[in-house]
Amino acid sequence: MSALIKNGTIVTADGEYISDIRTDGETIAAIGKNITPDKGEEVIDATGKYVLPGGVDQHVHFSFTYKGSKTRGFETSNAAAVGGTTTLIEFVNQEKGRGLVETIEDYRKTDADGIAMVDYSFHSVMTDPRDEVIDEIPRLAEAGYPTMKLFMAYKGQFFHADDDAILKALQKGKEAGVTVMVHAENADMIDVATKQLVAEGKTGPYYHAVSRPPVVEAEATRRAIYLAEMADAPIYVVHVTCKEALEEVKAAYIRGQKVFGETCAHYLVLDESDLAKPGFEGAKYVCSPALRTEEHREALWEAVDRKWLNAISSDHCGFDYGEQKHMGYGEGKSFADIPNGAPSLQNRLNILWTYGVCKGRLSRSRLVDLYATSPAKVNGLDKKGQLAVGFDADIVIFDPAYEGTISYKTNLEGVDYSPFEGFEQKGRPETVFLRGEKIVDDGKYIGRKGQGKLIHGKPFGSSYSW
Ligand code: URP
Ligand code: ZN
Ligand code: ZN
Repeated sequence: MSALIKNGTIVTADGEYISDIRTDGETIAAIGKNITPDKGEEVIDATGKYVLPGGVDQHVHFSFTYKGSKTRGFETSNAAAVGGTTTLIEFVNQEKGRGLVETIEDYRKTDADGIAMVDYSFHSVMTDPRDEVIDEIPRLAEAGYPTMKLFMAYKGQFFHADDDAILKALQKGKEAGVTVMVHAENADMIDVATKQLVAEGKTGPYYHAVSRPPVVEAEATRRAIYLAEMADAPIYVVHVTCKEALEEVKAAYIRGQKVFGETCAHYLVLDESDLAKPGFEGAKYVCSPALRTEEHREALWEAVDRKWLNAISSDHCGFDYGEQKHMGYGEGKSFADIPNGAPSLQNRLNILWTYGVCKGRLSRSRLVDLYATSPAKVNGLDKKGQLAVGFDADIVIFDPAYEGTISYKTNLEGVDYSPFEGFEQKGRPETVFLRGEKIVDDGKYIGRKGQGKLIHGKPFGSSYSW
């Protein structure tokens, strides 16, 4: 089975040009001008459209539990497809007393295989840093999961990690080319501030941001970087949200350390005023780190444009508002009881296009690098994130003329709200191919449950090189 996409503007991380592109089976077979259609081959006229690589979202939570409540899972991964994302990397929290690889494999079999509608891979989240678990880290690389994360935040939760665990993970990880990622926030600072705010009766969603200001993120980011320096290992800081943390990442990189980071779509277009919305509405925006102010947002746009950050992810977390977010509502409850995280799987590309490209903050090439090419490299996915011969035929035909409005009602995320509700949308993924098979047509999902395939990453991802 093959398809020929003709006369589209092909956008890569390095530039753009008008050309034809042919798929053959699961891969990109040819790119060039005036390719003659084969007999029986599907031909798509992409004149006036952009042809982008399928997105790689390296920060997804389909199985995040917060205070016992769990997010929507892989059964909603078709939302990624209509949003132009064809590969997801999900964080899997190690179960206490069990191995890192074992936990991923079990979760994969029960929750992803036969269900996922786009391709998928996993990061391990180490929660139980016993010596034998540290010693198991190289096994992650052998098993095709060469990335792991530790949560510096969330004191009291089973997944919180201390410096001891992070340092040992960095030391062991570098032996096998496992990239260590951190959620960088100082858990004690948050814990003290939370208790004080609650004691003062400051319990509403807005106080979530007050309990974890930028200094909390900056401190942990700096500490993580020093731990990496001591281990002489690369480190990847997920969801950088503020100027101060950004400065730490930049300064370390300039000093010659292999320090890299991402931000997420919601930190670029939302801010802490959303947390102050009337009633309990602000709970929809409770995520960690917290949303910041305009000043930080602008710094993040500059950072992604100038390559100080190398990926924009979703940090998708499908908790609903009606029940799950309301765990923090009522007598004796506070913002600290609200599950952290927001749904954003479907709208990553739309937000970046409308508020980045259309507003002149990002070039199309930069967008492609941030949403597909770089995250594929960070995670060692050597057939993903690029439009080049031999790569997987994960292709988005993007119609820049489309105009619409984002709403949870038309999203496929399976959540009863979107943090981007009512946002203007310019352009959309009109057609999406997953390894050569059309899974989105005219903006509608037409694929099959279970069509997504497990993708293994190679160790020594791009954070190990310059
Ligand atoms: O608030 C967030 N980001 N929830 C998901 C888990 C995490 O911290 O990444
Ligand atoms: Zn996090
Ligand atoms: Zn996250």
